[in-house]
Amino acid sequence: NNRVKIKELLTWQPEQQQVTVMGWVRTFRNNQFVALNDGSTNNNVQVVLELGKFNDDLLKRITTSAALKVKGTVIPSLGKGQTLEVKADEVEILGDSDAEKYPLQPKKHSLEFLREIAHLRFRTNTFGSVFRIRHALAFAVHQFFNNKGFIYLHTPIVTASDAEGAGEMFRVTTLPFDNPPRKEDGSIDYAEDFFGRSTNLTVSGQLEGELGATAFGEIYTFGPTFRAENSNTARHLAEFWMIEPEMAFHDLEDNANLAEEFIQYLIRYVMENNADDLEFLRQRLLDEEKQKPQNERSEMDLIQKLEFVVNNKFERITYTEAIDILLQSPHYKKKKFQYDVKWGIDMQSEHERYLVEKHFKKPVIVTNYPADIKSFYMRQNDDGKTVAAMDILAPGIGEIVGGSQREERLDKLEQRMKDMGVPSEELWWYLDTRRFGTVPHAGFGLGFERMVQFVTGMGNIRDVIAFPRTPKNAEF
Ligand code: 4AD
Ligand code: MG
Repeated sequence: NNRVKIKELLTWQPEQQQVTVMGWVRTFRNNQFVALNDGSTNNNVQVVLELGKFNDDLLKRITTSAALKVKGTVIPSLGKGQTLEVKADEVEILGDSDAEKYPLQPKKHSLEFLREIAHLRFRTNTFGSVFRIRHALAFAVHQFFNNKGFIYLHTPIVTASDAEGAGEMFRVTTLPFDNPPRKEDGSIDYAEDFFGRSTNLTVSGQLEGELGATAFGEIYTFGPTFRAENSNTARHLAEFWMIEPEMAFHDLEDNANLAEEFIQYLIRYVMENNADDLEFLRQRLLDEEKQKPQNERSEMDLIQKLEFVVNNKFERITYTEAIDILLQSPHYKKKKFQYDVKWGIDMQSEHERYLVEKHFKKPVIVTNYPADIKSFYMRQNDDGKTVAAMDILAPGIGEIVGGSQREERLDKLEQRMKDMGVPSEELWWYLDTRRFGTVPHAGFGLGFERMVQFVTGMGNIRDVIAFPRTPKNAEF
């Protein structure tokens, strides 16, 4: 099989040579011109069928979405918008397709409609670009950490612990649903369960990540995580991918520096390696913006926005400063926030977006949150009120990173777990890191889909993961 990919063919321009291309028909015009796509790029290659050379039976089977193998000669194109085409010598139908029944027509479909046929939406230009960029970002994640000597640690999907202590877990069990074994007091007897205890899907690989960091120094995880939070928003999934670096000998500032460098590296990688897909998405967004009134359109297009983010330092403020900015904002004075603002609140997305989109107009790193609204493992500050937490807020997204310096002092950690009702007996293995050579350490989690959203400009998180899992939806 000496197939050449269309992306390669279009850049390599091997004029007059014989090539084999394979792909799916996007359109077929005048019984003569096939626009063929193989997913390597949004650009189709035009295959030209000489009139009279192929029989009617074959021509009839060249329908939208049929799979073809074409052997032909590369010639300069006379048509507009392409530099070469393939003059077909042999055409083989690899797979027929009933164009009448095929749900994708050669026209623009809404993203909502495409979500209902998520099993076919990769075959559109928008999803082609999004998923090639998603791939590139995943690759760049590994490259970034590998270049820095981090170890990729595979943390478990099935766990017995609740890493965030938020109780948003999906249960994993082999017990019968209708009549599970029960203890004398009537509660379910998990001793009979597959693992001999109650287990769930992981919400985060952090706790295991800390074990790795206190041996290898620097590790990262990159895997699926699960949250049974009933949030039907454009930023939440029940199953999402998270990247969680964890570093020994790092404090909060080192942590913020690494996160900023990491995000900029990922963006730069895509700008350098996926220019054509970014350009396609930039254009797509410009078309979308044209539907909006002039004063609601964004000042920068997608590529200008990304360039701005890689070329400017992120803003850094404390939580206390963030609350002050909100309280002094014209927005607050005109009572435009739906939720109240005061020190101690868990900022709502309207607050976060005001800070990044209206006030600073760039990514913002917010540090030192009230202890009461953050997880048990975060390092307690000397003020007795705040913890060394850090969230990164991005324009158009809101929270994209959550992280902290960790509480490395055993007594303080145990006290806090007790205060928060986190079972320290079950987390004895986690506490061992603090017993045997504890060190200052820190880490963060980047929501991969939110990062893909930021880079592609896609408004809904359901459109940057292949098969989204959201409340009442697990079709594909
Ligand atoms: O802020 P979170 O909950 O932090 C943690 O899980 C820590 N254990 C991370 C760490 O310090 N190692 O989640 C981290 C990030 C969020 O900032 C957000 O980008 C993403 O994960 N995220 C979600 N993305 C999509 N759907 C959801 N339901 C998400 N919940 C969190
Ligand atoms: Mg968070």
